Amino acid sequence: MSITKTSFGEMSDGEKVYSYLLDNGNGLSAEILTYGGIIKNLYVTDKKGKKTDVVLGRDTLEDYLKNDGYLGALIGRHANRIARGQFELGGEKYSVGINEGHNSLHGGNVGFDQKVWSTKEKDAAEPSLELSIVSKDGEEGFPGKLDVTVTYTLTKENALKINYKAVSDKDTVVNMTNHSYFNLAGHASGTIDNQILQINSGFYTPNDNECMPTGEVLSVMGTPFDFRAPKPIGQDINSDFEQIEMFGGYDHNFAIAGRGYRKAAAAKCLENGITMEVYTDKPAMQLYTSNALPEGIYKGGERYNIHQAFCLETQYFPNAMAHSHYPSPILKKDEEYNFTTEYRFIVK
Ligand code: BGC
Repeated sequence: MSITKTSFGEMSDGEKVYSYLLDNGNGLSAEILTYGGIIKNLYVTDKKGKKTDVVLGRDTLEDYLKNDGYLGALIGRHANRIARGQFELGGEKYSVGINEGHNSLHGGNVGFDQKVWSTKEKDAAEPSLELSIVSKDGEEGFPGKLDVTVTYTLTKENALKINYKAVSDKDTVVNMTNHSYFNLAGHASGTIDNQILQINSGFYTPNDNECMPTGEVLSVMGTPFDFRAPKPIGQDINSDFEQIEMFGGYDHNFAIAGRGYRKAAAAKCLENGITMEVYTDKPAMQLYTSNALPEGIYKGGERYNIHQAFCLETQYFPNAMAHSHYPSPILKKDEEYNFTTEYRFIVK
């Protein structure tokens, strides 16, 4: 195993950005940036021994600074949307950063994806990198000073494990995730239509035309949202089912069956034998099939197309503060937010 630190450029104020290459010595390596906690590359060795980079990304800090699409980024304080950026907590009304139409997306104007994180390399049997920031009281409109620590570990069992911890000095809301765009055939291999996906979920939340959950929680049965049995992601991606047609693919939240740390999903590329299993203790997960990747040049000069990747963003339900029947994203003063999501790779 090894951890290699290299310089990855500077922010406009001179702050240095680094890249950390973690290698578990067992066929899995990941390059993580201190800017946005971005997973820039994630290499899995396929069944023919070929090192395959399974995440979309960009080559330079300048490209990431354009901040289009949240590629690989660590998302906070609040993943996905808050309607009109408003919520009520403890009798107080809060307005948080509006950055998509009149709504707040992925933490507002300057979310955790745009921070330069402090790091600590962990000297253990498994390579591990701890990232931390302090988010000020009132930042992007959110109450409470929030101390955040996110740890990325490459386990011996070939998983990238992400542990999210946070403590606030006031009651607040927290919903962190990672926004990796996966393509198990390799980041530059075209669409993910033929990759097989299974999701442990019988219920999804339909959206209004702003991609905001309507509040309903509907059965997946007989709809394109039924991934209980594995099926190719592309099978129903062009369906005329209203919820699919409206977004040009999937951009929906699934309630994950069960509680506690459990398997949420599995995806497989039949050609190279790479399977990725997702484990989490979060209540839900967004399936986003990169329906509108921003223009621009990506890693290796690639121009990615729509449906070139899928995101499996473990989370609380979007806009959860507006719906009392959704699990609550409230973090009480001095209590610990502590969630873990694991992307485990199996090759056969
Ligand atoms: C959202 C999409 C959004 C994408 C990129 C996903 O988590 O659900 O609607 O376009 O992130 O920002």
